[in-house]
Amino acid sequence: MKLEEIRQFLHGGDYNPDQWLDHPEVLEDDIRLMKQAGVNVVTLGVFSWTSIEPQEGVYTFEWLDKIMDEMYENGIYVILSTPSGARPPWLAKKYPEVMRTSENRVRMLYGGRENHCESSEIWREKVRLIDEKLAERYAHHPALIMWHLSNEMYGRCYCEKCAENFRKWLKKKYGTIEELNKQYWSSFWSHKYMDFREIEPPAQHGEMYQHALVVDYYRFSSDLKINFLEMEKEAVKKYHPDLPVTTNMFHVNCGINYDHLAKILDVVSWDSYPRWHCQKEKSTEWENAVGAGFTFDYARAFKGKPFYLMESVPSVPSQFEVCKLKRPKMHMLSAMQTIACGSDSVQYFQWRKSNGSVEKFHGAVIDHNGSGNTRVFRDVCEVGAKLKEISCLKGTEVKAEVALIYDFDNIQALYEQRGITRNKRFFESRPQLHYDALLKNYVNVDVISSEADFSKYKVIAAPMLYLFKPDTARKIREFVKNGGDFVMTYYSGLVNENDLCFSGTLRNPVFAPYSLNDVFGIKVNETDAICDDEYNEFEYKGKNYKALTCCELVEVDGAEILAEYKHDFYKGLCAVSKKQYGQGFAYYIACNTESDFLSELYGDVLKNRNVSKIVDTEYVKDVMVRERNGYIFVMNFSTEERRIVVKGETILLNGYDYIVINKMVSSHPIFSRSFF
Ligand code: GLA
Ligand code: ZN
Repeated sequence: MKLEEIRQFLHGGDYNPDQWLDHPEVLEDDIRLMKQAGVNVVTLGVFSWTSIEPQEGVYTFEWLDKIMDEMYENGIYVILSTPSGARPPWLAKKYPEVMRTSENRVRMLYGGRENHCESSEIWREKVRLIDEKLAERYAHHPALIMWHLSNEMYGRCYCEKCAENFRKWLKKKYGTIEELNKQYWSSFWSHKYMDFREIEPPAQHGEMYQHALVVDYYRFSSDLKINFLEMEKEAVKKYHPDLPVTTNMFHVNCGINYDHLAKILDVVSWDSYPRWHCQKEKSTEWENAVGAGFTFDYARAFKGKPFYLMESVPSVPSQFEVCKLKRPKMHMLSAMQTIACGSDSVQYFQWRKSNGSVEKFHGAVIDHNGSGNTRVFRDVCEVGAKLKEISCLKGTEVKAEVALIYDFDNIQALYEQRGITRNKRFFESRPQLHYDALLKNYVNVDVISSEADFSKYKVIAAPMLYLFKPDTARKIREFVKNGGDFVMTYYSGLVNENDLCFSGTLRNPVFAPYSLNDVFGIKVNETDAICDDEYNEFEYKGKNYKALTCCELVEVDGAEILAEYKHDFYKGLCAVSKKQYGQGFAYYIACNTESDFLSELYGDVLKNRNVSKIVDTEYVKDVMVRERNGYIFVMNFSTEERRIVVKGETILLNGYDYIVINKMVSSHPIFSRSFF
C-alpha cells in the first residue's frame, strides 16, 4: 500500500517485539490489544541491530520475517527502521573508531546510543551493509509502507577524522584561507590562520571565541549528519526506489538544520514530548501547547504537507525531572492538537513498556502489568476510535497566511554571540513568544526558515533576525514592496551569514537593520540591555506596556512612531514603528516586550492586512483554535470551563475539552466533540 493512499490516520508506534521473543504469549497479546486499540501501524526495528546481526556477518532475520508477516495478516502496516541509532557491543569492540569523540577530545566508551562518528568509514560501511540487507529482504514486503532512517540524530563528534572533514568543508566554502580569515575577523587576538591545516574544531578548552568558526562547525556537523542519512537513504532505496523515507526529528535545537534535512526526506516526522502538567519555569498548559504547536507548525511547513507524529507518550515520560502522568482527557486533547496542526498520524513511544534498562518506567501503551484494563489503554483506544471518525481529514493541508521565521543559522549565531545577555534561554524563547501572540489572534501560522519562499504569506514575523544571509534583505524588501507586512524586532540585520558585523564608513555609514533602513524608515544607533528586575515602558493605543531585557535607541527616518519609551535617557525615542513601503508595511519593535503587547500589535497588523481569523473573536484564555481543511478545532488547555463564540454560537468547553466544527455546515455545525 502506498503511504498517500492510506485513507485512515496512522495510529500506533514503536514496537520492539525482539525484547519478548522468548515470551510468545506476550506477542500474541500484542496483536489482540493492537486491534482493540485501533492500531494500524507499528515502527519496527529502531534499535534492533543486535537482534538481526548478533555477530558480525551472522544475520537472524527469522523473527522479523514472522512479525512482519503477522502484522500484514492482521492489517497493521509497518514502518521499518534502519538500526543505526545504536550499535551492538561487538561492533564498537572491533572498530572503536565508530564511537564519537567528545568536545574534550576523549573518545567515548561503548554504551548509550546516538554517539557515533559519522566521518568513520567503517561505521558508514557497516550501516550501509545492514541497511542493504534489510532492504533486500523487506523492501517489497506488503506490510511495509515507509523506511525510518536511524533515530533522532543529534550531537557532534570532535575526532581527528571529523576535524579533517571540517577543514575540507571550510576549504570548499571559503576557497582561500585569506577569505576565511576575512570572514572570521581573525586578526583579533592574533587568531589568523596561515593554512587550513591549522584549524581545529571548537572546544571549551580551545577555541570558542571565534564565533564564525563555532557556527561553521555546527553547520558542518549538520551537513555531515544529513550526508550520513543520505547514504542510508540510498542504501534502502536500492531495492525499491519509490518507498518513502523519513527520520524522526525531535528538538528544534538539536544541532541539525531540519530545513535542509527535510529536503532529502520524502516525509517529515516529528517526536513530541511536551511537559504536560509540569509548572516548572512557570510553564502553563497553554505554554506547553504553544511549545508543541510551534514544532508541529515547523515540521509541517518544511514541505507544506502533512507530517507524521512519529513518537509521543501515552502516559508518563521518564526523561524529565518530574515525571507526571498525563491527566485524564489530556491524551485526547494533545492528539487532536497534533491532527489540527497537520499530522497524519498519532504514534507512541512505545507500544509495550520495557522490563529493564533506562526506559523501563517510560510510559507505554501496555504497562508491565500486561493488562488492557488500564486508564492509559482506554485513552489510547479512544484516540484510535476518534481518528477513524475524523479520517476525512487524513492527507489534507493546513493553510497559513502568516509565517514566523525560525532559522537554524540565525539561532546558532545568536547563542554564540555576546551581547544583550548571557542568558541563552532569552534567545531560545523569543520566537515562541511571538508565535504565542500570533496564535492568540486565532490564525494558522507556518514556522519557516529565512530561506523559505516568502511570497505565499500576507504577514511575516521575524523575531531577532540577527543574521542576514546574502539574499535575506532583498527578500524582505521584495516581500514588503509587493504587499506583504513584515514585523521585525530589535537585534536584527546585524551580521552576515558568517557572523561578521555589517559595517560602514564616514562616507557610507551602515546602520541596522542592514540595508533596510529605507524599508523600515529607521536606523538603530545603540542597544541598551536592562537587568531582570528593571523595565522601561511605552504606551500603545492608550495602554501601558513593559519594555524588558533589551531596548534599542532608534532614529526615525520616515516611519510613523507607534510608541515611545517613557523613561531613562532615551525617553521619547521610538519603541515601535510602522512604515509603508511599496504595497506593504514594515513594522519595527525596538524593544523586547511581553506577550500582551505582541498580541495587541499582531492583532492590528493582521487586521491591516486583511488576514482572516479562524474565528472572529477575542482570545479566550487557554483556548487554542486551529483550522485544517475547513474544520475548526477549538481546544481548551485549561482545567476550567471556558466559553467561546464560534460562528455566532456560544460553545461551552469543560476543562481539557475540545470540539471540531465543520465550517461549511451551518445547520448542524458540530461535527464531533469529545465525550467527556
Ligand atoms: C526519544 C527516542 C525514543 C525514546 C523516547 C523517550 O524520542 O527516540 O527511543 O527514548 O525519546 O521519550
Ligand atoms: Zn568523528
